[in-house]
Amino acid sequence: LLMYILAPSMLAADFTVLGEQIKIVEEAGAKYLHIDVMDGDFVPNLSFGVPVIQSIRKCSGIVFDVHLMISKPERYIEAFAKAGADIITVHAEASQDINKVITQIKNTGKKASLSINPDTPVETVFEYCHLLDMVLLMSVHPGFGGQKFIGSSLDKAARLREYAVKNDLRFDIEMDGGISLENVEDVIKSGVNVIVAGSSVFGANNINQTVKEFLNI
Ligand code: DX5
Ligand code: ZN
Repeated sequence: LLMYILAPSMLAADFTVLGEQIKIVEEAGAKYLHIDVMDGDFVPNLSFGVPVIQSIRKCSGIVFDVHLMISKPERYIEAFAKAGADIITVHAEASQDINKVITQIKNTGKKASLSINPDTPVETVFEYCHLLDMVLLMSVHPGFGGQKFIGSSLDKAARLREYAVKNDLRFDIEMDGGISLENVEDVIKSGVNVIVAGSSVFGANNINQTVKEFLNI
């Protein structure tokens, strides 16, 4: 049995019964709910934002893992913290002053996480690791669910894990995009300990059973 945290991505949920779907993954053993916020600028798509998070906060105690795919995220950190985020991820490519936005997240009392796109070298995050609770490695180009996993992401995770071990740093490593029951084992073995899964969980015929299968790998 591999020890990791599963973070089903709400982007792939059925929004007509969102509260019920969150309950299903929570009861099946998922510890995080991954929440993709898109602004139509940093990524070529729009999703949901503060009011939706505020609303679902009332129906679930699951950890809200909020992935901000937005330009200049410093503008909205306080708003997402107030809405109920537990972990706030910003993109290294989206901010002019990464140190400042990490400090801003930490000042809200929430966990701080930094993400990089598939084309951004993993070394980019090294100088910030000592400040972070988590690093999110994108294994697809952000903007859409249901894309194909980019294989070179495994090597990035392995190098980041090696860096963490060498420097005695305890941050989590999350991977996001194209992860299914077929490749999750390879992802975890590369050094990842938080797995995002959107279409492979919420697109399944039996969501409860699929979460349990993920957690039995
Ligand atoms: C992509 C999002 C992902 C997405 C993952 O921009 O950041 O979190 O929801 O979806 P799947 O698991 O279907 O690739
Ligand atoms: Zn995401």
